Amino acid sequence: MDRLLVVGAGTMGSQIAMVCALAGHDTTVTDVTDDALDRARAQLQARLDRDVAKERRTRDDVDAAFDRLTFTTDLDAAAAGADLVIEAAVEKLDVKREVFARLDKAAPPQTILTTNSSAIMSSQIADATGRPDRVANMHFFNPALVMRCVEVVGSDDTSPETMETVTALARRLGKEPVVLHKEIPGFVANRILGAVRDEAISLLEQGVSSVKDIDTACRTALGHPMGPFELMDLTGIDIGYHAKLARHAVTGDPRDLPSRTVTELVERGDLGRKTGKGFYSYEDER
Ligand code: 3HC
Repeated sequence: MDRLLVVGAGTMGSQIAMVCALAGHDTTVTDVTDDALDRARAQLQARLDRDVAKERRTRDDVDAAFDRLTFTTDLDAAAAGADLVIEAAVEKLDVKREVFARLDKAAPPQTILTTNSSAIMSSQIADATGRPDRVANMHFFNPALVMRCVEVVGSDDTSPETMETVTALARRLGKEPVVLHKEIPGFVANRILGAVRDEAISLLEQGVSSVKDIDTACRTALGHPMGPFELMDLTGIDIGYHAKLARHAVTGDPRDLPSRTVTELVERGDLGRKTGKGFYSYEDER
């Protein structure tokens, strides 16, 4: 399990790839454009330089990790050399099914194919491949370089060996694996987070309190490291939006649809920190 491939160089994919490289794995990260890869490389460089400056990591460790990291737009060639794939592309079922079908063709038969999604379960994707026993969810949290939890979830078709391999890999990456015994959308952590987030948005839409004050209550009354609105800005408002749509596609329950507030932000392109504006403005940081 030495050669890892991460598909998607967005916020999650790029940091997951760096986690793998820091743990000593030869890791390839792919995206559809060179621009996306250049952005990912620059963001990782800035983040890791900061860690070195703050003496959290040594320059040698960081340089060695970058040496183990390959950036490419050639998904098929990258898949051909991978022992395990972590897909972190956009949260859209049709895109994921297409990516998995392509990975299935290009990767060696023993390669395990995982998705970082929590909204889209591996049972929805596995039949796009000829190896459903080697498909699972390996779900990291944002920021992936920092958060220690990785949820490991299989479908009825996922083999115990695949679950064991993915769990052991999570441990080797320095993470704390949480194994689910049932495949449910959202898994454990996002279910709990979703309940907090929905209540926060409902309080905002009812005019009960402001974005800032609701966040303050979560931090200062409940001890959360950041409030739900700050967190949505960090993870990307579009991620939660697409996760809700995916959930709604499965359940048909109108309560699973994205809220009015989140839909408006997504339609305006205000997706959080990555676009410079979400519930808060980050123009100064940019
Ligand atoms: N990327 C990488 N590292 C980051 C980071 C980021 N975006 N933001 C912060 N860090 C690291 C840095 O090392 C930073 O130190 P530095 O700024 O001196 O370099 C260090 O964390 C501390 O950061 P801060 O002092 O800015 O702030 P905090 O002490 O509050 O820590 C936090 C930041 C770790 C993000 C913390 O606020 C936290 O744990 N927040 C909650 C995050 C959370 O709930 N994540 C789960 C989201 S749900 C999810 O991911 C589901 C998925 O399906 C999308």
